[in-house]
Amino acid sequence: MNLKKQAALQAVKYVHSGQRIGLGSGSTVSYFIKALGDLVKSGDLVDIQAVSTSDETSIQAQDSGIPLVDLDHSGNLDITVDGADEIDHNLNLVKGLGKALLREKIVAAHSNEFVIIADESKLVSQLGDSVPLPIEVVKFGIDAQEKWLQNLGCVAEIWRSEDGSMLLSDNGNPFIRCWFKDGIKDPSTLDKIIKSRVGIIEHGLFLGMATRVIVANMTEVVELTI
Ligand code: A5P
Repeated sequence: MNLKKQAALQAVKYVHSGQRIGLGSGSTVSYFIKALGDLVKSGDLVDIQAVSTSDETSIQAQDSGIPLVDLDHSGNLDITVDGADEIDHNLNLVKGLGKALLREKIVAAHSNEFVIIADESKLVSQLGDSVPLPIEVVKFGIDAQEKWLQNLGCVAEIWRSEDGSMLLSDNGNPFIRCWFKDGIKDPSTLDKIIKSRVGIIEHGLFLGMATRVIVANMTEVVELTI
């Protein structure tokens, strides 16, 4: 059974004709985009416009016949559907291991509803337990930022591809990934500390943003709300 697809198909029921829709990024969202495109093609969903969070999502949306619009021209969005790397019991998230966290956070911040779709592997008791926290930074002084982040108690490393070059976001910025050995004990404080650091653009903690989480396991699709 394809759990990511099950969660994605469940999310489609929250999308209606006439809406402005934010499209997240990643493999789970790709099932959602496919399903949305099928509804547009069949005429069951009309007068929708979507705002994309990555170049990859834009390409898939265009190929699927979903009309795209810039966030600058869309007005506030009715709903955004996105994936996550980790989800805790307060519906706080780690996102960004697909390198799209900045645009994802901007689009989510302009959405009335922010729906997360995932398979059950993304549920954790504490953020940072299973994945590193990705942080988008400016290139200037990146080695110094890496050292500063280490002092927060994590193992921080510039995110590089196999050939050693820095991976870049669609915005052209590199990332540092931070592994917290014992998880992230106080996400709210960490959020404030990292955000107040000059040269850091955005991090992958999405706190208090998700309004609904749709999680598929082997027996059912569960919906969690705040
Ligand atoms: C993209 O930057 C991420 O935030 C994704 O939403 C997240 O990595 C989930 O991706 P998958 O759906 O591929 O697991």
